[in-house]
Amino acid sequence: MAKAASASLKKESENLCEKIRYHEYRYHVLDDPEISDAAFDRLMNRLKEIEAAYPELITPDSPSVRVGGTPREGFQTVRHARPMLSLDNAFSYEALRDWDRRVRETSGREDIEYIAEHKFDGLSISLQYEDGVLVRGVTRGDGTTGEDVTPNVKTVRSVPLRVESAALKKAKLPADFEVRGEIMMTRESFDALNRQQEQTGGKIFVNPRNAAAGAIRVLDPSITAQRRLDFFAYYLFVDGKVPFAKHSDSLQVLKQLRFRASDDWKLCDGIEKVTDYCTAWDSKREKLAYEIDGVVIKVNSTPLQNELGFTAKAPRWAIAYKYPARQETTVVNDIIVQVGRTGTLTPVAVLEPVQVGGVTVSRSTLHNMDEIDRLGLQIGDTVLIERAGEVIPHVLKVVKEGKPRKAFRMPKECPVCGSTIHKAEGEVAYRCVNAACPAKLKESLLHFAGRHAMNIDGLGEKIVDQLVEKGIVKDVADLYALKQDEVANLERMAEKSAQNLLDEIAASKKNPLSRLIFALGIQFVGERTGQLLAEHFSSLEDFAAAKTEDLENVPEVGPKVAASIVEFFSEAANRRIIKKLHDQGVRPTAEKRELKSQKLAGKSFVFTGGLANRSREEAGELVLQHGGKVSGSVSKKTDYVVVGTDPGSKYEKAKELGVSILSEGEFEKLIRLK
Ligand code: IVH
Repeated sequence: MAKAASASLKKESENLCEKIRYHEYRYHVLDDPEISDAAFDRLMNRLKEIEAAYPELITPDSPSVRVGGTPREGFQTVRHARPMLSLDNAFSYEALRDWDRRVRETSGREDIEYIAEHKFDGLSISLQYEDGVLVRGVTRGDGTTGEDVTPNVKTVRSVPLRVESAALKKAKLPADFEVRGEIMMTRESFDALNRQQEQTGGKIFVNPRNAAAGAIRVLDPSITAQRRLDFFAYYLFVDGKVPFAKHSDSLQVLKQLRFRASDDWKLCDGIEKVTDYCTAWDSKREKLAYEIDGVVIKVNSTPLQNELGFTAKAPRWAIAYKYPARQETTVVNDIIVQVGRTGTLTPVAVLEPVQVGGVTVSRSTLHNMDEIDRLGLQIGDTVLIERAGEVIPHVLKVVKEGKPRKAFRMPKECPVCGSTIHKAEGEVAYRCVNAACPAKLKESLLHFAGRHAMNIDGLGEKIVDQLVEKGIVKDVADLYALKQDEVANLERMAEKSAQNLLDEIAASKKNPLSRLIFALGIQFVGERTGQLLAEHFSSLEDFAAAKTEDLENVPEVGPKVAASIVEFFSEAANRRIIKKLHDQGVRPTAEKRELKSQKLAGKSFVFTGGLANRSREEAGELVLQHGGKVSGSVSKKTDYVVVGTDPGSKYEKAKELGVSILSEGEFEKLIRLK
């Protein structure tokens, strides 16, 4: 039986929760962090450590839930306490004036105060709090019933998991209430997501709204957690009613309760002030971190709202003014290829220049070959483009085939350095893997010098730019041949700092092999894989010469990683770098793990599902310390599959192949007793 948590641990975890909540608020709601990311991680890690040892201390509002839980079978539908209606749209200022006239006529009043707010382009969500704690997050659905997406919503850092009772008291609110608002994705997160999808061949999202909606409506909350979503609150209910006399009061209270709410709303007496607001924001909206697709105008007074009431579909007291869509049609004159910093080839459409939302557009990214196939796009076609999260627009579809039209093919050679282009089996991206390709050289050098790689302090962007542009450094190995005067002659480089940099470079030769392997920037070889590879091979040369089978024998190295390593060293330019590094005296040797015993020698293990007493990584480490091997996939050669809770397909595979299956307890016995 596990020991019960002591009172002091309980207190510590409560304090940690409170601190983490505060720092999440500083970071994700106020955009004004007080502590470093590392300090934040330390708090979170300590909390997770305590919760792992004493699961009874995990509360439903613990900040640790934000990392995402286990996937679910399906969504439950939930009925909204009060329907989540949509809004009527106005596409012109004339339509706004008509609406204003109706409001005045229906209410019989002339002095109407409006409140104009951003119309956030996301996905509307209702958050229900009981006793100050978030208990449910529900999508709009059909307006009457929505889907329960609570675990997903909990991963959104700007959604408070608990609202302090002091804040509720100050606002004279009960502890049970509902907040509605919009789940959004910033342009930055959207661009980063599509860049990642480009590389991995995932679905390309047409705009941040789609990406946000997709991220909320997945059954696996850990995917939501990776998508960096935001929540903007705009509505507060208690028992299905608005608790304040004015909507502007609700917005202010929401901020006091530590919700993220926009400050950019404005009170307007008369519709002309509203149109001024719309015009002003049309030119400024580009600069916002997130997309707005219009302005929502509401009657500010709650009693007057109630008087005006609703039609079957929408409130009479509010309307959405929509900005014109940023879409246009144009002709694709050519498709060219750009080599990105990781060597990925990105096809780019050269467009007949066209104005979209006030900007002249002449290029559009096509992401990858799969996207071109999906669009059925050929050179000469007329396409519909949209400017969404990025300044560079996106092709939505082909609207007319060109006459003539010409199919596009990826080049066989890198347009920058001429080396052969690779495309791994089952992958979408075409890549130039030559580490010395000038298109990627600067980035490769910065990665090589990085803190977790060779840790060469002082080799920053400005220096790297000059070294590459002057042709002094053509690959990472050239760093070790740098001369004092070459460095001292660079701009903004004093003699002393030149010597410091050379000393740093020389000192980096002493780095362990794992760092050097990671520093080479091979696709899919991160720090941890670098470590595991370094424990397996005796030198860089040994590693560079490894065959696929040797590589797959390394724990956690599967076919994808092995293929990427083999591909990297199949490039002559990369083999030359290895030789040059050796000649320059960069010769780290193997890091053999200290073995506790040999009792698992020759035995290979695969772990699947959650373990109760340790993480899978820790269990794998135990196997290695006792001379065994760990693999990521089950094959006939696997000796044992250790099965935890909710095991994946590896469990099925093990049964199918008749591999011995162990529980965590049996695994522990094997290590201790054999
Ligand atoms: S108030 C009963 N305020 O736009 C009216 N909605 O087209 C409730 N939206 O379903 C909505 N920003 O998802 C309101 N500042 C804002 C909004 C907003 C975006 C969304 C919301 C609504 C849709 C209607």
